[in-house]
Amino acid sequence: MRLLAPVAALLAVHGASAQLHQLAVAAGKMYFGSATDNGELNDAAYVRILTDPNEFGQTTPGNGQKWQYTQPSRGSFSYSSGDQIANFAKTNNMILRCHTLVWHSQLPSWVSSGSWTKEQLTSIIETHIANVAGHYRGQCYAWDVVNEALNEDGTFRTSVFYTVLGESFIPIAFKAAAAADPDAKLYYNDYNIENTGAKQAATLRIIGSIKQAGGRIDGVGMQAHLIVGSTPSQRNLEAAMNSYVAAGASEVTYTELDIRFSSLPPTAAGLRTQADDYATVTRACLAVDACIGITIWDFTDKYSWIPNTFPGQGAALLYDENFSKKPAWTAVSTVLAAAATGGPGPSTTLTTVTTTTTTGAPAPTCTAAKWGQCGGDGWTGCTIA
Ligand SMILES: *[C@@H]1O[C@H](CO)[C@@H](O)[C@H](O)[C@H]1NC(C)=O
Repeated sequence: MRLLAPVAALLAVHGASAQLHQLAVAAGKMYFGSATDNGELNDAAYVRILTDPNEFGQTTPGNGQKWQYTQPSRGSFSYSSGDQIANFAKTNNMILRCHTLVWHSQLPSWVSSGSWTKEQLTSIIETHIANVAGHYRGQCYAWDVVNEALNEDGTFRTSVFYTVLGESFIPIAFKAAAAADPDAKLYYNDYNIENTGAKQAATLRIIGSIKQAGGRIDGVGMQAHLIVGSTPSQRNLEAAMNSYVAAGASEVTYTELDIRFSSLPPTAAGLRTQADDYATVTRACLAVDACIGITIWDFTDKYSWIPNTFPGQGAALLYDENFSKKPAWTAVSTVLAAAATGGPGPSTTLTTVTTTTTTGAPAPTCTAAKWGQCGGDGWTGCTIA
C-alpha cells in the first residue's frame, strides 16, 4: 500500500476522521465519489460537503445526461442539465463518470413507442451517441454506455432496443461510444450484478459479445443498490468482480452504492448493521486491484432517490438528512484508513446485529419524474419508463 506523507500526518492527528476520497487515494484507489443532481446544487450546506476535495473526488450526474434530457425530441439535443454537473465537476477538480447512453428507462416515447426497422433504430442509437458522447468528449473519465439490459434471471430485458435489434444493440452502442469519445472508459452498468448468479453470468456473456463483435468494453459498473442486512459477502463481491476481470474487463467499480433500510426509522442496531455492510463493500473493492473506486448514489439521505421509488424505505447513505455523518461513514473511513496506512484493518465487523427485514417494496406507480430510476435489489415495481 502506498502511504502518502500528508495522509500519514493527517491520520496521526485525526485518526479515522480523515476523509473519504483522500483515504481512498492513499489506499491506491482512483476515487471515492458521490452522484449529484441539478436541484441540489442550490443547497449551500450540501455543496460545501460535496465540494470538499478530501471528501469526494468524483461525481456522476444522477439524471441530466439521460436520453429524456439530452434528446427529448428527435434531432433536438439539450445539454443544459448535464453541462451543469460536468462544469461543476471541472470547477471542483472531480473525476466525472458520465451516465448513461442507452437505457430502456427515462427514454422519451418518440424512441420507445416508434415502430422501427433495424436500420432505423441502429441509426437512432448511433446518432444519439455520436451527439451526446461527442458533446462530452474529453470530459468523461467513463461512460455507462448501456444500462440495465438484463432481467434478474439473466435473460435480456424487453425494451425497444432488444425487441428490434436483439442483443446486437449492445455492441452497436459500444462501437458508437468508442468512436465518439475514444479516451472514455466504456462501461456496462447494472444492478444485482455485485453478487454471483444468473445476472452476473449474463454480464460475462455481454462482455464476450461486445468483444466478439469487435467492440471495446473497459469496465463493469456494479450499481450496488443494496439492502441493510442482506449485502452479499465480501467473498461473493470479490468473486463477481474477479469474474468480470477474467472475462476481459480491465476495471470495475461500484457506481451507485446505497444500502437502504426496508423500514424506517432505522434503529441504532440497524445503523450498525448498515455500517458493517458498507465496510464489507469497501473491503471488497480494496481487495480487488481492478476495482478503481466507489461512487455512492448521492451522499445524504436528504437527496436519496430511494424514498420516492421504494416508499417507506430509505436512510441508505453515509450522511443523514441533516448532514450528520452516520456510523456507516465512520465504518467506510476506518476501513479506508486501515488500507491507506498499510495496516490489516479491523479484522471483524463493528457489530453483527441484524434487525431489518429484506422484503421487497410494494410496487409503486411508474410516475416519479425526477427520481424515475427503477431498479435495485428487491425491486418489484416498474421496469419501463
Ligand atoms: C434532523 O433534524 C430534524 C429537526 O431537528 C429532526 O426532527 C430529525 O429527527 C433529524 N433527523 C435525523 C436523522 O436525526
